[in-house]
Amino acid sequence: MSTISSEALGYLRDDVRARWRVLDPLLPEPAPLPAGCGADLVVPGAGGAVRAAGWCRHWAGQPDSLDITWGAARQYELTALVAGPDVRQGLDELLSRWREHLAELPDAAASDCAAVVTWPSRDVAGALPLVRHGLTPLAVIAARDARARRAPAQATQLPPGLRVRRAAPSDIDVVVALGMEVIRFDANFGGVTERTSSESAMRQEMEGLLSHRQPWVWLAERDGEPVGMLAAERPERARWIAPMAGLAPVAYLQEMGVWAGQRGTGTGAAMAAELHRETAEAGVPLILLHYAQVNPLSAPFWSRQGYRPLWTIWEAWPPGAVR
Ligand SMILES: CC(C)(COP(=O)(O)OP(=O)(O)OC[C@H]1O[C@@H](n2cnc3c(N)ncnc32)[C@H](O)[C@@H]1OP(=O)(O)O)[C@@H](O)C(=O)NCCC(=O)NCCS
Repeated sequence: MSTISSEALGYLRDDVRARWRVLDPLLPEPAPLPAGCGADLVVPGAGGAVRAAGWCRHWAGQPDSLDITWGAARQYELTALVAGPDVRQGLDELLSRWREHLAELPDAAASDCAAVVTWPSRDVAGALPLVRHGLTPLAVIAARDARARRAPAQATQLPPGLRVRRAAPSDIDVVVALGMEVIRFDANFGGVTERTSSESAMRQEMEGLLSHRQPWVWLAERDGEPVGMLAAERPERARWIAPMAGLAPVAYLQEMGVWAGQRGTGTGAAMAAELHRETAEAGVPLILLHYAQVNPLSAPFWSRQGYRPLWTIWEAWPPGAVR
């Protein structure tokens, strides 16, 4: 069992809260702690204080869910609280303890299984220990804070022949096909796996989004042919990710893809402009999305659209690869 008194935990949370507030105003309060698996992940400090504490959650995805497309089928997720000023050392010691726990797991060497740490992107003191312990920064949760952006003075001109329209339930086939294109492209970068169930799971997700009266799903058409798709969750559907940010309400940009031969001609920007306009009209200040850290198309694209890293997701497949 983790041996941390509520008093020591209170000090640790206060320390983390104070550091995060300075580092990144979009971070939330340090998360309510998960139940964890009971592994002892407490790094003691001087005089009864705690330098760092972690909670390891053991997670298994539903075989028919899209979750196991976006990540490993089984995951060991570390929630880490590390006190300053020496965050590097505190996290290093915590990761050493976690490694011992992971090494004892029956699936420590299973290939469809990952150890995962979601760490604030701007808390850069954590990067070195994570690298040294064998974790790779696979993905980013990026945030776009509309309060920090000025609305364009006039509607941006669409490229010739391009039209962006809201998708309807009858568009489901092309919406799913473009969603699968995103999965296949992202599968190049290590965190995403196309499964036999991916397409049916994608269909179910997209049918859910399209069932809204005014879905935040758009299709771009060039000369009448669909060339791109953007799908986002309204705040009532994006509650699962809202605790990752200190600003609310939150929309979540779930998918965006443009057919390979059509990229780089302004289609993505035109669809993103629709989402940004409607979120602004709905009074939604924050949009979150995931992108693969080394996707050479998405990272610069989202940056130009006003998104920046909030959390970095570090992973080791299999969990026994944490060293
Ligand atoms: C990310 C993506 C949706 C962007 O759509 P897009 O229609 O290519 O975007 P745009 O044309 O509006 O903008 C792309 C920018 O990259 C530039 N670019 C240059 N060469 C490019 C190329 N070979 N391919 C794509 N973009 C290129 C464009 O000029 C443009 O720059 P600008 O904004 O300074 O003009 C698209 O690249 C894509 O479908 N990628 C594969 C799937 C993916 O990565 N999805 C995102 C997952 S988070």
